[in-house]
Amino acid sequence: MASPTLISDTDAWKDLKGHVEETKKTHLRDLMGDVDRCKSMTVEFDGMLLDYSRQRATLETIDKLFKLAQVAHLKEKINHMYTGERINSTENRPVLHVALRASRDAVIQSDGKNVVPEVWKVLDKIQEFSERVRSGSWVGATGKALKDVIAVGIGGSFLGPLFVHTALQTEPEAIESARGRQLHFLANVDPIDVARNITGLNPETTLVVVVSKTFTTAETMLNARTLREWISAALGPSAVAKHMVAVSTNLTLVEKFGIDPNNAFAFWDWVGGRYSVCSAVGVLPLSLQYGFSVVEKFLKGASSIDQHFYSAPFEKNIPVLLGLLSVWNVSFFGYPARAILPYSQALEKLAPHIQQVSMESNGKGVSIDGVPLPFEAGEIDFGEPGTNGQHSFYQLIHQGRVIPCDFIGVVRSQQPVYLKGEPVSNHDELMSNFFAQPDALAYGKTEEQLHKENVPPHLIPHKTFSGNRPSFSLLLPSLNAYNIGQLLAIYEHRIAVEGFIWGINSFDQWGVELGKSLATQVRKQINASRSKGEPVEGFNFSTTTLLSRYLEPEVLKETVASSSSMLTPT
Ligand code: F6P
Repeated sequence: MASPTLISDTDAWKDLKGHVEETKKTHLRDLMGDVDRCKSMTVEFDGMLLDYSRQRATLETIDKLFKLAQVAHLKEKINHMYTGERINSTENRPVLHVALRASRDAVIQSDGKNVVPEVWKVLDKIQEFSERVRSGSWVGATGKALKDVIAVGIGGSFLGPLFVHTALQTEPEAIESARGRQLHFLANVDPIDVARNITGLNPETTLVVVVSKTFTTAETMLNARTLREWISAALGPSAVAKHMVAVSTNLTLVEKFGIDPNNAFAFWDWVGGRYSVCSAVGVLPLSLQYGFSVVEKFLKGASSIDQHFYSAPFEKNIPVLLGLLSVWNVSFFGYPARAILPYSQALEKLAPHIQQVSMESNGKGVSIDGVPLPFEAGEIDFGEPGTNGQHSFYQLIHQGRVIPCDFIGVVRSQQPVYLKGEPVSNHDELMSNFFAQPDALAYGKTEEQLHKENVPPHLIPHKTFSGNRPSFSLLLPSLNAYNIGQLLAIYEHRIAVEGFIWGINSFDQWGVELGKSLATQVRKQINASRSKGEPVEGFNFSTTTLLSRYLEPEVLKETVASSSSMLTPT
């Protein structure tokens, strides 16, 4: 059998390797002067505008990237995703998060079966349940309406819903529909996170939604048991039925935990954890907070991008262009990181969410056929909303390492403020930075300019900006539920494009397993040492020393003495 071809063995890849050396001779300052080039490097879709003219790329680069896409069978791979092929081959699963936001009449097959009716059955159930809770017809064990929701989950069962919640929190329609309600997220198994969540909450008016695809994740299950204890201690064990519901693919374990299966909201193994925000994972907690109709708009936004990604030609396809140019930056320029810089505080949780989507998807060392990659795949993603990032890490991105940046701006603020006498509105002030920063990065500032400004010679090296630092600018018309859905889907698909080109499996995550299994060994040791005084054994010198210090008797006494007080009703 012929060995599988790595993308780096193809002529298209090698051609780009040569081409990047040519491109390195050009400066963005000069590229930006070519108006025709810049004109053809903007794409519009549904009111949004992507400008990729500040990439270190020419039109020839884009052509060569399209050739790379062709040899990587990008179009076929996208089609396979939409037609329910088992493209997550190491887990033998289709990848169908697009079905989660498909319209009711769409047909998306998995194993010869249209999955859309199942999706809508769960969405209808969420709508009905969330309306009952919100209207007060579903009440807690003491007859009180449930105003607070704690969503317990981690990773993909947390970050996506948190991102959307944070983005909606200041959106006028969403504010109106969330009046009097609070949504909280408990993710970390650190009891501090439990304390932060339950402080000030009354179990009588709280609904706990346990969100876990597998219903086996150690952190989530211990947090769920902790909140079950909090509810039982206050209201008696029978209250759990009224105060706890679940979202999972594993309904058997949900029932074993003690949650009524009628109060469980299903999803399917063809939804990857980090791609699950449009399933009951996100839709249930968000509908409880904002009402189903707001969340439906978010799903429609994501769906609009799904259709665009599926059908737009590559030259006009936003996720494809973003994905290909990211590959260009990582694999040809060798830039290892990407900064996600939304000029909107509402998007403050975008970067943490994309960190998981991107780094869990594309942080791989072998091809989908198991061949070690002779190149680095994946990016290190980080970010902060502008302008906070400017006063934090932008020094490094202007004069230190080159980090390709995603600048995301919004035309209309969710919360406009215009003070009398001020030259611009508060949003204009914010957005002035959105427009300025990409040019500062691209153009930089030369020694000649500094000389002309009479800068003292000893300061010239310090005040010089090399420029030539690439970025994307994405301008959204506004930030309502629909646009938030669009933004989410753009990133999901862009990351898939990168993985399709690199020839890796972007939908498994074996890399998270080793740490989990070692933690199981440590947990057993802690239990044996604490309950039976057994010595620390079977670990290397370093871990043995650390664990022994952790288990020292004085520390043990303190731990036991201070435990469980927060769960006791006052
Ligand atoms: O971090 C590993 C991971 O498996 C993620 O992929 C997933 O999103 C998270 O754990 C939570 O898993 P679950 O939803 O099964 O609790």
